[in-house]
Amino acid sequence: DQNQIDVYKEKVGEVGASLVTSGMKVGLGSGSTSACVVRALGRRWQEEGLRFIGVPTSEETARLAQSFGIELSTLGKCPELDLDIDGADEVTRQGFHLIKGLGGALLREKIVRYAAKRFVVVVDERKMVDNLGDHTPVPVEVSTFGWEATAKHLEKIGAEISIRYKKVSVRFKEDCEDFFITDGGNMILDCNFGLVNDPVKLGQSINDIVGVMENGLFIDCTDEVLIAGQNGIQHLRK
Ligand code: A5P
Repeated sequence: DQNQIDVYKEKVGEVGASLVTSGMKVGLGSGSTSACVVRALGRRWQEEGLRFIGVPTSEETARLAQSFGIELSTLGKCPELDLDIDGADEVTRQGFHLIKGLGGALLREKIVRYAAKRFVVVVDERKMVDNLGDHTPVPVEVSTFGWEATAKHLEKIGAEISIRYKKVSVRFKEDCEDFFITDGGNMILDCNFGLVNDPVKLGQSINDIVGVMENGLFIDCTDEVLIAGQNGIQHLRK
């Protein structure tokens, strides 16, 4: 149940935060599990005097980190990070491939991930899958300008599209206004491709479409996964 999941997230947040040592430059992920990491880091900042520099992947994460007094910076000042810790929506048991972006921060999350030497993903056991696309669409961040044309191209490569709205995502509908807008000012189209057999190829086909900023497939770029579940925390390395 939800309470149990919240306990899992708290625990995995603490273990994630324990990987940070003073002097590190650290990417701070987005979403509810990452928020547990940031809160645990905030406690260490205040209680232990842990000192590091955080680079947030969203405005929301930035606000949360700042509420604890955590020092923040940008990739402009810190282009190389020691570590990035982030959540995910799906993680494959083999290869640790991910779908990310249900929280809408995927472009910044991917940029921060590729600025880091080490990428650790924090999840609860519900997120583990055999194949990507098992229960999550592939979120695609697109320019608001001409998004209708971009959506048509995505449909041509097999996407069944739900436009992301502020609260809920509904099936393709022309008369919509209350779009979810990302921190970068873009829209999110949730693209259902069914089970994803060749994520590398799919990611490339999506990103080849003009108007697409980035897709939520994170392939072959996860070094470690922390999984919270019935048996405590599993720390898996590639
Ligand atoms: C944000 O854009 C996402 O990539 C999140 O990392 C992902 O949605 C996981 O969020 P939860 O930890 O809230 O499930």
